[in-house]
Amino acid sequence: MLKFTYAFLIFILLTTFIAGCGSSHKPAVTAPQTVTYAAQIQKLITDNCLGCHSFQKTGITRYGAPANSNYDTYEQLVSNAVTVNAYIQAGQMPPDGGLSAADRKLFQDWLDDGKLR
Ligand code: HEC
Repeated sequence: MLKFTYAFLIFILLTTFIAGCGSSHKPAVTAPQTVTYAAQIQKLITDNCLGCHSFQKTGITRYGAPANSNYDTYEQLVSNAVTVNAYIQAGQMPPDGGLSAADRKLFQDWLDDGKLR
């Protein structure tokens, strides 16, 4: 009986060890993703910016966003992308605390990748 218990314990230890090895050898770094306007950036801007920076907003509903400062389209965003990125990276936009670190990086990557549509 004792022999069996030892054999069983060794079996458990070995399988745990082997399973542990398997999972710890996954690659730590995931492949960099290509960022495009269609796949990620349009949604980021819609969710975080168009509440104020949209041609559909006028007067007080813009919450002070300058009248011609709209980012509804790819063209509008690209035409001012460097300034937009400066505000984003500084955590100034949106005004209520900026974007998450992940979203800031996403926008920077989009710029660095060549502002792909
Ligand atoms: C709650 C309203 C609001 C939201 C949401 C908002 N902004 Fe603004 N934005 C403003 C106001 C007000 C100003 C003018 C004051 C200033 O420049 O800081 C402004 C100015 C700017 C400017 C400078 C003017 C220009 O267009 O060159 C940029 C760039 C900008 N915002 C980008 C963004 C981006 C990008 C987002 C989303 C990540 C965003 N904003 C979200 C209100 C907003």
